[in-house]
Amino acid sequence: MKNKKITRKITQGMYVLTTKNGGCIVDAVLQISAGDNPLIAVAVMKKNYTNELLKKHDTFALSVLGMDVNPKIIETFGFHSMKEIDKFKEVEIGEVEGINIIKNSLGYMVCEKLDMIENETHTLFIGRMIEADVLEDKEAMSYGYYQEHKEELLKVVTEEGKTAWICTVCGYIYYGEEIPKDFKCPTCGVDNSFFERK
Ligand SMILES: Cc1cc2nc3c(=O)[nH]c(=O)nc-3n(C[C@H](O)[C@H](O)[C@H](O)COP(=O)(O)O)c2cc1C
Repeated sequence: MKNKKITRKITQGMYVLTTKNGGCIVDAVLQISAGDNPLIAVAVMKKNYTNELLKKHDTFALSVLGMDVNPKIIETFGFHSMKEIDKFKEVEIGEVEGINIIKNSLGYMVCEKLDMIENETHTLFIGRMIEADVLEDKEAMSYGYYQEHKEELLKVVTEEGKTAWICTVCGYIYYGEEIPKDFKCPTCGVDNSFFERK
């Protein structure tokens, strides 16, 4: 493969996916049918605790993050597991159809799970939208924007004098002159080709 960074040109947004007792940041979201109750697909890594929760529960919600999102939301839901911290205690939440949604978001979609498709690393969850609302009519943050600006957004500070490799998906920092060939990001699971030297 010559350069798989071309996949970053696929337009994706930034969302907090929530279900009962947990949730995480996702960008892999797609509307796959139209009508009053469209189908929404979301791909969730098998290693994420949210995947386990989604398999148990029938309802999930997606809160759409705007350009002015508080970076703490990305940090809390994207870099930590609900196994370690109670993410819902860290940010302001509301409740719709029994599912927590993020108040500092542009709006939400609540879906009833219909189907699941497994691949090597992810489960694709397909749901029918049963409720949705716009909370603020502002510009949504794209995954591309996040990738371009994540260092300033998340204020990534690396230790001076050390070579750092930063995961372009989640921001995890690996220190070392070279990154091992078989290295996988401990936070989001991607291989070493997703790391950029700083
Ligand atoms: C910008 C960004 C995009 C992400 N996109 C996805 C995604 O589409 N699917 C996914 O499963 N995880 C994605 N993640 C990783 C999860 O949010 C992260 O692994 C989280 O800590 C999992 O938490 P959990 O163990 O509580 O489920 C993304 C993280 C970031 C920062």
